[in-house]
Amino acid sequence: MADRFDYLVVGSGAAGLSFALAVAEHGSVGVVTKKESAESNTNYAQGGIAAVVDKADSVEAHVQDTLIAGAGLCDEEVVRLVVQEGPRRIAELEAQGADFSKRGKALHLGREGGHSAHRIVHAADATGREVERTLLDQARAHPNIQLFEYHYVVELITEHHLGEVVSRDKPARHCYGAYVLDEDAGQVHRVLAKVTMLATGGAGRVYLHTTNPAIATGDGIAMAYRAKARIANMEFVQFHPTSLYHPDADSFLISEAVRGHGALLRNTDGERFMPSYDERAELAPRDIVARAIDDQLKQRGDAFVYLDITHESRDELMGHFPTIYEECQSHGLDMSTDLIPVVPAAHYVCGGVVTDVDAQTSIHGLLACGEVTYTGLHGANRLASNSLLEALVLSQRAVASALRQAGERSFEDAVPEWDDSGTEYPAEWVLVSHNRDELRRVMWDYVGIVRSDHRLRRAMRRTRLLYEETEEFYRKSKVSVPVCELRNMIAVAYLIVRSASVRKESRGLHYSTDYPQPVESERHPTFI
Ligand code: FAD
Ligand code: SIN
Repeated sequence: MADRFDYLVVGSGAAGLSFALAVAEHGSVGVVTKKESAESNTNYAQGGIAAVVDKADSVEAHVQDTLIAGAGLCDEEVVRLVVQEGPRRIAELEAQGADFSKRGKALHLGREGGHSAHRIVHAADATGREVERTLLDQARAHPNIQLFEYHYVVELITEHHLGEVVSRDKPARHCYGAYVLDEDAGQVHRVLAKVTMLATGGAGRVYLHTTNPAIATGDGIAMAYRAKARIANMEFVQFHPTSLYHPDADSFLISEAVRGHGALLRNTDGERFMPSYDERAELAPRDIVARAIDDQLKQRGDAFVYLDITHESRDELMGHFPTIYEECQSHGLDMSTDLIPVVPAAHYVCGGVVTDVDAQTSIHGLLACGEVTYTGLHGANRLASNSLLEALVLSQRAVASALRQAGERSFEDAVPEWDDSGTEYPAEWVLVSHNRDELRRVMWDYVGIVRSDHRLRRAMRRTRLLYEETEEFYRKSKVSVPVCELRNMIAVAYLIVRSASVRKESRGLHYSTDYPQPVESERHPTFI
């Protein structure tokens, strides 16, 4: 690959691609992505994109729904800005060729938990696939964009690589590009950039059960943390209430849009339980529904609850939810006649790399956008379908920052090539797979939907041990994706545990049995 680009984009989901397309009008763009280009959280998004496109809806209503879900921790200015810009981004996507579901000529709007109106723009139940296809088609055709699949960013390049000490007291000030592993060749490239855009997505894989695909190992958050960029709100991990419970289903998501379509939650005796937890019942925000399910499972000793949409006909369900219908069918379940066994699974990290509304991080030359970030939009709990919206809006706002910073920077030729002298091909791979499994189980058992000081202390002790073992392994080994990912997952786990430990209250997605109520003096983001 080339050794320099004006704009280096890490990640080919909605955030990375829509930014790449915009800055490609102004300079050379390299997009690196660690698997096939489409493999991203974006590609699996089902429900849709929240946007005020119906005349009967209002910006104010969407803002208020977002603030309520965020449980007092959203930045209202950011919320307003993102909500206001949503409709324009939807129109742009349509102009670029996205084929969203329609009723007549108008967009068909779905409904999801926490929304007071039908406002979810969608492409049946595979919205992310349509967004990803639209953006990728254009990126592939753009003369200024080069796409590098199976290229893994190992580390952001900062002053640390020029021999300066980077520490908590002396954080990196500049980003000069990234070290990129060509996975097929096994070679690490030094790639210089005037501006690096971190669009690496989420970290659901840190948990044993997750709706996220394998790419979601939190690499961007971990790399930014090592460069001592500001990180915030990592305790707020969203558990989606309804992932399919089946030994072969790998936590396949059953979209909230199914509940928006009238599906009810029942326990294994067939009793509907949500109305006794919240007056909004199945359409309460996700944290409430996930905790209610968790409570039912613990009280009753059950392994799952049921989602019931058997009041709908097969044709209706196949029309609205073709992907989900097919997946259920492949496991012997007919949604129109069978109850669907579901459990919560880790879905979305509301915290991440701190940016302003123009995608600027605390490091010059490093922008960030999408699920990797903390912008203030989601607060203590993300409102359904607000994350694709955030990625699409912030990636466009990032353009002005990118152009300005690129104008202020030149390529830093003093950056050395990657040095792997003294390392060897590792023989003990079992350590990597064992530590990865252990980490994911520790996070699931001790840092899940319901937490306590005792469990968090345990998790911290285990995480520290895993960190020490893995760092030693990393230092001795030739660089490889599994080891880098494990290292990053451990860093993200540490950030979640540490942030959860300092929050002495329950709010939004963070629930502690030791501090079961919200506390006004704790109503602020957790910055690291
Ligand atoms: P992603 O789309 O995850 O892209 C990240 C990219 O970074 C990938 O290309 C990945 O390969 C690459 N990458 C990561 N690390 C590295 C590295 N070290 N080197 C190189 N490349 C790297 N949100 C909604 O708003 N509406 C929905 O309906 C919805 N449904 C969802 C359903 C599911 C099953 C899931 C998992 C999520 C859903 N979400 C939804 C959340 C939403 O999809 C994501 O938050 C959003 O798509 C994130 O976009 P992104 O561009 O930030 O990251
Ligand atoms: C879903 O379709 O339920 C997921 C929506 C989201 O995560 O925003």
